[in-house]
Amino acid sequence: MGSDICRLGICGLGTVGSGVLNLLATQTEEIRRKTGTTISLVQIGCRRPHPDCDLSSTAVSKDIFDLARNPDIDILVELIGGTDIAKALVLEAISNGKHVVTANKALIALHGDELFRAAAAAGVQVRYEAAVAGGIPIIKAIREGLVANRIEWLLGIINGTSNFILTEMAREGNHQTFEQVLAGAQRSGYAEADPSLDVEGIDAAHKLTILASLAFGLPLKFDMVVTEGISTLTLDDIRFADELGYRIRHLGIARRKEHPDQTEIELRVHPALIPQAHLLAQVEGVMNAVMVGADAAGGTMYYGPGAGAAPTASAVLADVIDIARGNGSPQQEFTDDTVDAYRILPIEEIESANYLRLGVHDRAGVMARVTTILSNHQVNIEALQQKDVQSSDTQIIILTNRVREGDINNAIDELEALDDLTASVVRIRLVGLPPE
Ligand code: HSE
Repeated sequence: MGSDICRLGICGLGTVGSGVLNLLATQTEEIRRKTGTTISLVQIGCRRPHPDCDLSSTAVSKDIFDLARNPDIDILVELIGGTDIAKALVLEAISNGKHVVTANKALIALHGDELFRAAAAAGVQVRYEAAVAGGIPIIKAIREGLVANRIEWLLGIINGTSNFILTEMAREGNHQTFEQVLAGAQRSGYAEADPSLDVEGIDAAHKLTILASLAFGLPLKFDMVVTEGISTLTLDDIRFADELGYRIRHLGIARRKEHPDQTEIELRVHPALIPQAHLLAQVEGVMNAVMVGADAAGGTMYYGPGAGAAPTASAVLADVIDIARGNGSPQQEFTDDTVDAYRILPIEEIESANYLRLGVHDRAGVMARVTTILSNHQVNIEALQQKDVQSSDTQIIILTNRVREGDINNAIDELEALDDLTASVVRIRLVGLPPE
């Protein structure tokens, strides 16, 4: 655009939309002073009344598609969430020559390639800084700050709800289970009424999809992300990990590995044991952090609030101002699926060290049967402990060396067929720095 006045339409007045209104109310003059651009809010689209917001000086429409057709709007800010209506809205705005700024990670992870193609054809941009890690400018860091690098890996805590629950469960003296912490987080508004997107790892998988696409120059591959959440973790696992010198964090990991004729890509989100001295082990509560391994800059880390009205609004307006300044047009993302020298590794081929917890009946020969099965599947034991020896049941904790996922899964299937076991085997991968 590169013009002095940037005419904005905002669709959606939930937490982020209200945050953008508040930030505009306090920062419009400062933004004009710093950038020479005056942001003018032309119209708001919201289906429900919002008595808490002062909308007296802006046109409001109940039909959000009015904004996509309004010739006086240069940039449509999509903050309605969801994917179906949001996609139709964004496509209509693009077809009418409008730039789009969105905080919608699911929309970008699932439909970004189609939106980017449409934007490239229309000569406009779709920007989404607010979709990943809230107030942390991680998209800008990867797309601009590290553009001269070859990025080898990404490793991050990119779901604040999961991180909050894990750090609360581990808090000294707290002793609250996953379910108890989640219920408290829902009561105080930290967790959604339906928490499944967060605690089952899907929200983190959306974000990792977007980061990996930018970092490696790939189309968006959400359906190829290995996705596990935190809902099955127990206080025992957190305590045993602590005794072994680890903390449990929910991580997003993307890694590339070069072979002479092909590049292999790993995309996974899952809980992991990380050493207590690891930088990510210090990230607590709802905070996010992303580490990036790049060939020239080396390892860099980006830390900050991953959600919330004001941090996310900060990211939304940064995109708006970038477009208004004329930065980065036309659409730059990877708009086709022709990069065939890449292979996304299936889960069976991923290698990692593992923590195993086995609940077993305390009787002669159990240890021999367990270790024989592990040995038969090339699982090399790094450490082994027996815990909670009381009554007739006990727990065996095993740390393994690195092993192919296919092999450890076969071993776990065979272990679970033993009549010595009192419950399913708990397996949590170990992750170091750089991620392996
Ligand atoms: N629900 C997300 C989280 C925040 O818990 O991190 C928005 O992306």
